[in-house]
Amino acid sequence: MEHKNYKAFPNNFLWGSASAAYQIEGAWEQDGKGPSVWDTYTKQEGTTYKGTNGDVAVDHYNRYKEDVKLMAEMGLKAYRFSIAWSRIFPEGSGEINEAGLQFYDDLVDELIKNNIEPLITVYHWDVPQALMDKYGAWESREIIEDFDLYCQTLFNRYGDRVKYWVTLNEQNIFVGLGYRSGVHPPGVKDLKRMYEANHIANLANAKVIQSFRKIVKDGKIGPSFAYSPVYPYNSDPKNILAAENAEEFNSHWWMDIYVWGKYPEATWNYLEDNGLAPTIEDGDMSLLADAKPDFMGLNYYQTTTVEFNPLDGVGEAKMNTSGKKGSSQDSGVPGLFKTITNPFLGTTDWDWTIDPRGLRIALRRIANRYQLPVLITENGLGAFDDLEADDSINDDYRIDFLETHVEEIQGAISDGVDVLGYCTWSFTDLLSWLNGYQKRYGFVYVDRDEEGPKDLRRLKKKSYFWYQAVIKANGLVNRK
Ligand code: BG6
Repeated sequence: MEHKNYKAFPNNFLWGSASAAYQIEGAWEQDGKGPSVWDTYTKQEGTTYKGTNGDVAVDHYNRYKEDVKLMAEMGLKAYRFSIAWSRIFPEGSGEINEAGLQFYDDLVDELIKNNIEPLITVYHWDVPQALMDKYGAWESREIIEDFDLYCQTLFNRYGDRVKYWVTLNEQNIFVGLGYRSGVHPPGVKDLKRMYEANHIANLANAKVIQSFRKIVKDGKIGPSFAYSPVYPYNSDPKNILAAENAEEFNSHWWMDIYVWGKYPEATWNYLEDNGLAPTIEDGDMSLLADAKPDFMGLNYYQTTTVEFNPLDGVGEAKMNTSGKKGSSQDSGVPGLFKTITNPFLGTTDWDWTIDPRGLRIALRRIANRYQLPVLITENGLGAFDDLEADDSINDDYRIDFLETHVEEIQGAISDGVDVLGYCTWSFTDLLSWLNGYQKRYGFVYVDRDEEGPKDLRRLKKKSYFWYQAVIKANGLVNRK
């Protein structure tokens, strides 16, 4: 849709930035923290780029005041961070670690003191190792009670000050990479187990939303979903159907459950025919239907273009975790769809498509299908950055990426979408799970690499000043 003039960003628009505990905190066994699955997984040979892990990460745990000061100076309105479950419950349940609770108390207070709205993600992939050992974490229904206890503890402790909450971060990614491609913990390749674990995660998500309603009466809660809108390669109907398949299989399978408590038909039938449908017990569907979120959290990085894939067509394929452009392969689900290069779009060094308009399409599709406000919980560019001799980092490519995305958000707002805020990924550089430290996302450069933490100095990149100006102007400067 073209507009003569764009609508302005709302005055209370949450210009933010985001992070996750394992990727920034470090201090992996400090002050009574128990290990998470990522603490153990990254120490197994060959799991991550150059064997990197989050033992030190960017040491945010010990430097959070310095980081918040940088946020305040930038004028950041909101900061989304996650809580490490095993800092609060080192064994996953049972005894509480007060030092862990206190750390996040201090962080929340520091943010509020600096007029930054705290947005808490309760789960960003780091399930306590103790629960993996005890019952296989997301593969057992026992986790529903333990997750609920953990979340209630957080709601009770921080709910007076924190009003925006994110439940599960990218459930589609953590179950997909954990149980389909086996490159995230627990490193399993078993689709039946994946769909069972996913259903249990859905139930856990619903249960904590119900608890939230009782504890934080004036708060808002929703999941963060990794949505990559699907395009058909061309107007050949068989590719259109492939795109419909992919949209439902990759996205509606999760978002329909969050909002309506229903699994979409075609994918359900496909899974049932292939012996992969999850086990539904009495009471499951009513629980799922009774936990509608207040917003859809959207993590948007790229779009996916697909074409027809025959029954004997391609399946899983290699990911690019090295930053060598062109080293990933097309993948698919036989009989449903396969990915193909979109001739209209460029890519990052990690082969992710660059598609700002795709963000507007994502916003429109979510708003239209689910009639919910959308909070953009992640969006950003992973790139190599050069530290110049004078300590500057001239990341014009990142500015360009973010600026074009912000413009499309404004387009979506002008189309009528209720967008609550925009959290870029990420504020400081951080550990990119499988891609080491060289894939940088931050406005703030952190001087460390795969070989070691160096001095962990914080340096403002050029994009830091760009975002500062955007926030100040409540929108793009020198654009429509
Ligand atoms: C999302 C995650 O998948 O994308 C983040 O929520 C992650 O934790 C980000 O870092 C970028 O992905 P990657 O693989 O480039 O780190």
